[in-house]
Amino acid sequence: MTTNILMVCLGNICRSPLAEGILLSKVNPEQVFVDSAGTGGFHIGEKPDPRAIAVAKKYGIDISRQRCRKFELADFRKFDQIYVMDRSNYNYILDLATTDAERQKVKLLLEGLQVHSLEVPDPYFDGDQGFEEVYQLIDRACDLIVSDLKKFKK
Ligand code: 4NP
Repeated sequence: MTTNILMVCLGNICRSPLAEGILLSKVNPEQVFVDSAGTGGFHIGEKPDPRAIAVAKKYGIDISRQRCRKFELADFRKFDQIYVMDRSNYNYILDLATTDAERQKVKLLLEGLQVHSLEVPDPYFDGDQGFEEVYQLIDRACDLIVSDLKKFKK
């Protein structure tokens, strides 16, 4: 049985593709399935933003084969945990949920981290430094997910 984890942001070209790639690099893909999606439909079918591809590459992770897709209602059934990058997208996903079981799957990615804000900032309109900061935040959150997955298995 795999644990199925979905990462969600607005565009699915910056933050959630990074979260997908980073988490995937830390787990056994036979035990954990990781995917990502966006709440907006502006970039469907596109590769991640070149700046996201570059920062991932810097840390040895290839996200260039990912393609953007929009979140769909079937994702509530397919995934065990849905991690969302910021509050506006979290509220959007929660509004689409129809049962408590679905609502309980939805979390802010940074929940559980000691950070001044639980939102992963949108780096789309920033420079490369924004992508570096976002990478580091997501990396820490993914470490926590991995340790939670281990606890869950015991
Ligand atoms: P993301 O960033 O939600 O981290 O993928 C964005 C990418 C594109 C847009 C907004 C945010 N956009 O408006 O096209």
